[in-house]
Amino acid sequence: MGNQAKLSASGNDYDFPVLKGSVGPDVVDIRKMYGQTGMFTFDPGFTSTASCESALTYIDGDEGVLLHRGYPIGQLAENSSFMEVSYLLLNGELPDADELSNFEFTISRHTMLHEQLLQFYRGFRRDAHPMAVMCGVVGALSAFYHDSTDISDPQHRKISSHRLIAKMPTIAAAAYKYAIGQPFLYPDNSLSYTGNFLRMTFGVPAEPYELHPAVEKAMDRIFILHADHEQNASTSTVRLAGSSGANPFACIAAGIACLWGPAHGGANEAALNMLKEIGTPDKIPHYIERAKDKNDPFRLMGFGHRVYKNYDPRATVMQTTVREVFDALKVTDPLFETALRLEEIALNDPYFVEKKLFPNVDFYSGIILSAIGFPTTMFTVLFALARTVGWVAQWNEMISDPGQKIGRPRQLYTGPTQRDYIPVDQR
Ligand code: SDX
Repeated sequence: MGNQAKLSASGNDYDFPVLKGSVGPDVVDIRKMYGQTGMFTFDPGFTSTASCESALTYIDGDEGVLLHRGYPIGQLAENSSFMEVSYLLLNGELPDADELSNFEFTISRHTMLHEQLLQFYRGFRRDAHPMAVMCGVVGALSAFYHDSTDISDPQHRKISSHRLIAKMPTIAAAAYKYAIGQPFLYPDNSLSYTGNFLRMTFGVPAEPYELHPAVEKAMDRIFILHADHEQNASTSTVRLAGSSGANPFACIAAGIACLWGPAHGGANEAALNMLKEIGTPDKIPHYIERAKDKNDPFRLMGFGHRVYKNYDPRATVMQTTVREVFDALKVTDPLFETALRLEEIALNDPYFVEKKLFPNVDFYSGIILSAIGFPTTMFTVLFALARTVGWVAQWNEMISDPGQKIGRPRQLYTGPTQRDYIPVDQR
């Protein structure tokens, strides 16, 4: 008999199997618990719940470790490319040179959007938030690809995954162009995945676009840092949507909607807006006190994490990349100094130390994205663009699991018990 976990309740003892992963906490398998005990577990926010088995990404929050298929994020950010990391997440192993070039070729052949889909943008106001546009346009993809929505067919799943990864840069760039009233640019597949995106975003038909190698490299690294992150809120949303058999385009649109929240992917936009509100380092103590005040809803955006109780390894890479982009573009930003000072003060404040609140991936990203030329409203769009490969990889992993079933949590009901209807003239 393997490891067991005992539960004593209402005078009875119950044993539940303890399952081990390749690394990380063991899990108590409670799939039969309700049947055996008549009780549910209760875990709002899923702080102690493993929702699935996965081989994609491992996070050790105490040590600040993030692995994609076993490879540390720092090594991937330093040595790999977003296309190579995408292949790794989807297929489980790093590609050889031929596999990588074939993958890049395949993705490049799906970068264009259906011309009708480009009309879709015209229904939005020009000042619509680009994330609202992304939710609508990505969801609308399911109206265009009837040839690949049979999720039980691995080939359909593969081409849908490739289409989503390939089209997100085109959709994101078009959302930006629409907002600023410039014409859409078509993809140029002679460029890299990330170079193509930068040209579609910042290029104009009136003149050639010159890619800045350091900007292309930094953007590609930022995509790597955002590719996947275990069972975060938006990934869990994609999995839950996918568990009903919904098509992948609708599932990714659901993930985009969830990511938009300021507690999640929307934090990069909120973090830069917070730094702008703080302004200069002398104002930091006031905001630190506000962040600590239980009666004040203000939080330090870009700080804290459900899993990391140590420095988010992605924030480390992000901070280094700020310096590289500033050096390359010969720019600076006083908000970077404010951010560095804010981090220094917070990490020496007992409140943040006790609650293990460290900078997360969203704290520095906005500073780089601003320096590259993105408005704050585009920051979460870029997060969604990169996270699409993680979402589709997690979705594929779930759908191809023979034991997969629809996700259907239960509840602790605290509403009125049964009572009879009272006609209105007797109330
Ligand atoms: C992302 O899950 C992922 O992996 C997400 C992500 C990914 O790649 O997918 O990593 C991306 O979403 C990063 C997180 C971005 N969000 C922010 O930066 C928003 C600011 N952070 C907080 O909202 C918060 O830290 C969360 C939402 C990120 C985590 O919240 P938890 O785990 O539910 O923790 P909590 O809210 O219960 O906070 C614990 C305590 C609380 O105080 P007490 O009730 O114990 O007294 O810490 C406090 C909180 O008030 N706290 C903060 C704080 N974050 C938590 N206080 C001040 N400033 C903060 N930023």
